[in-house]
Amino acid sequence: MERTFLMVKPDAVQRNLIGEIVSRFERKGFKLVGAKFMKITNELAETHYQEHKGKPFFDNLVSFITSGPVFAMVWEGKEVITTARKMMGKTNPQEAETGTIRGDFGLVTHRNVIHGSDSEQSAKREISIFFQENELIEYKKTV
Ligand code: CMP
Repeated sequence: MERTFLMVKPDAVQRNLIGEIVSRFERKGFKLVGAKFMKITNELAETHYQEHKGKPFFDNLVSFITSGPVFAMVWEGKEVITTARKMMGKTNPQEAETGTIRGDFGLVTHRNVIHGSDSEQSAKREISIFFQENELIEYKKTV
């Protein structure tokens, strides 16, 4: 079954949006298989965002994502990667549709509430840098 990495960013943690965001994925029917409330180190931020290294916003991105705790999660389900991206909305919250997480709760690109893997390859990579295999819980979801 497909898995994705999702992370409630420091702006959304500060605004008490963890529950709201988790609830959306729960209600959709996806299965939570891992979760961690944590502070990201500079090293982890640079590894996670390595594809953006060299871009003009990279330093700000690293300082923002390390500025306060995040809620890192792994979710499982049919086509969870693309569906979660749809539920999150566009990267720039001003362009994100109302009804999406960023459309409902974000205002600017550099504080855009949530991160989600954009492909199967990045999901695998991101899950493995945030979680050990034994931190992901195998269980049966009956509803
Ligand atoms: P995220 O999905 O976490 O992946 C990369 C992040 O870079 C993105 O969300 C934005 O929060 C951030 N970012 C900041 N500035 C820009 C920009 N100009 N273009 C794209 N992403 C940006």
